[in-house]
Amino acid sequence: MRKINSYIDSVFHSQDALLEEVLSSIQENGMPSISVSPSAGELLTMLVSIANAKNILEIGALGGYSGICLARGFDSEGKLTSLELEDRYAKLAHSNLSKAGFSDQASYMIGPALQSLETLVNDDKHFDFFFIDADKGDYENYLKYCIKLAAPGALIVTDNVLAGGSVADKSAKPGRHTELMEKFNETVANHPQLESLLIPIGDGMTVSKVKK
Ligand SMILES: C[S@@+](CC[C@H](N)C(=O)[O-])C[C@H]1O[C@@H](n2cnc3c(N)ncnc32)[C@H](O)[C@@H]1O
Repeated sequence: MRKINSYIDSVFHSQDALLEEVLSSIQENGMPSISVSPSAGELLTMLVSIANAKNILEIGALGGYSGICLARGFDSEGKLTSLELEDRYAKLAHSNLSKAGFSDQASYMIGPALQSLETLVNDDKHFDFFFIDADKGDYENYLKYCIKLAAPGALIVTDNVLAGGSVADKSAKPGRHTELMEKFNETVANHPQLESLLIPIGDGMTVSKVKK
């Protein structure tokens, strides 16, 4: 999987000074290096753009790498709402989104994502694109909330669903998230309200369309 991703990144991803700076800022601030891969980021930009999405909800901001990729796919009317547990992560993410020119189009809700999601439901908010990339143990709950908050035809993209390839390799020792992701993928694949596919880019992303 690593070789395939390195190949895809080397052929399809060109140098991106701004995203390189974002990765450096994450390291300098002592935050984990767990942003999406360059090509996975480009896939997000492409999906937002193809879907003509205007109202995006991200769950898990870290330093804003995926946030920038998402925002690059929308136009001047686009809005990104991002849920992040850590106040200092959200601050760095917003500062990086501002450097990328999206200061007024990105906003952050700090705290446990499940609480923020409940607030969004109570406020009757709707989104046309979701990116789930926070703590894996709550993926099923995040999915339920995203479906509640989805406009008809919305896309839900979820990261890390291959769990380092372990879900597909029965001879490998299961990792921390193998079982969770196997179960999540089954849920997504068989969900009556979703049409879904798994794209093996980065650590694997499911792309689900919410049926109208
Ligand atoms: C994999 S990182 C996100 C990477 C980011 N999407 C990117 O690619 O640039 C996961 C993020 O989820 C956040 N997180 C973890 N548990 C959370 C929770 N319960 N609620 C909200 N955010 C959470 C972490 O603080 C971390 O910033």
